[in-house]
Amino acid sequence: MSYKLAPSILSADFARLGEQVEEAETAGVDWIHVDVMDGHFVPNITIGPLIVRALRSVTRLPLDVHLMIEQPERYLVNFEEAGANSLTVHVETCPHLHRTIQQIKSLNLKAGVALNPATPLSTLEEILPEVDLVLVMSVNPGFGGQSYIPSSTAKIARLRAMLDEMESEAALEVDGGIDMRTIPEVVAAGATVLVAGSAIFNTQASVAENIRRLRQAIV
Ligand code: DX5
Ligand code: ZN
Repeated sequence: MSYKLAPSILSADFARLGEQVEEAETAGVDWIHVDVMDGHFVPNITIGPLIVRALRSVTRLPLDVHLMIEQPERYLVNFEEAGANSLTVHVETCPHLHRTIQQIKSLNLKAGVALNPATPLSTLEEILPEVDLVLVMSVNPGFGGQSYIPSSTAKIARLRAMLDEMESEAALEVDGGIDMRTIPEVVAAGATVLVAGSAIFNTQASVAENIRRLRQAIV
């Protein structure tokens, strides 16, 4: 199974954001993952369309925007105009999820749904045929650098089986606590997009070296 690596800029040095994204792009990553937090759905506040627009000017990689915000439907157009390529909303924030997904698709963007660790896969049953991407949170969203929740692996494997059963080509993205130690089991369980923040942007090694180590841990 082939997989994509999506560095989360949440752990990047924001004073050198463009440079850090260029380092990741040069090292051959596939997507840039952008964590948007509103201080309501999650305790933390991060960034908005302004930064997505700034990133658009420094990279040609797809910008994978993870919306950890309440009422995400209010901001979809803003993120599209800023240059996002995919928009992922949390099922927990969308009472009219079907409509929200259609709105994302009508903007010609890839539409994703994300699940918190405590949210069961059964909430996806009706929407799965409509989405391009499912994001399994393997930590509680809000902060980088948390530990991978071990039960996520079984959940990823069950989602893999659901997607295969319906012959879905939707991306299966996993986000939270992905590092050299956890990445092999996540890939083995059937993930196709791996988000990593603190394992890629840290002071222990260069971005390129961290990406090389992650890729090496998979094979
Ligand atoms: C957490 C975010 C993640 C975060 C992952 O709420 O959605 O994308 O940046 O960070 P690490 O890889 O450090 O767990
Ligand atoms: Zn994320």
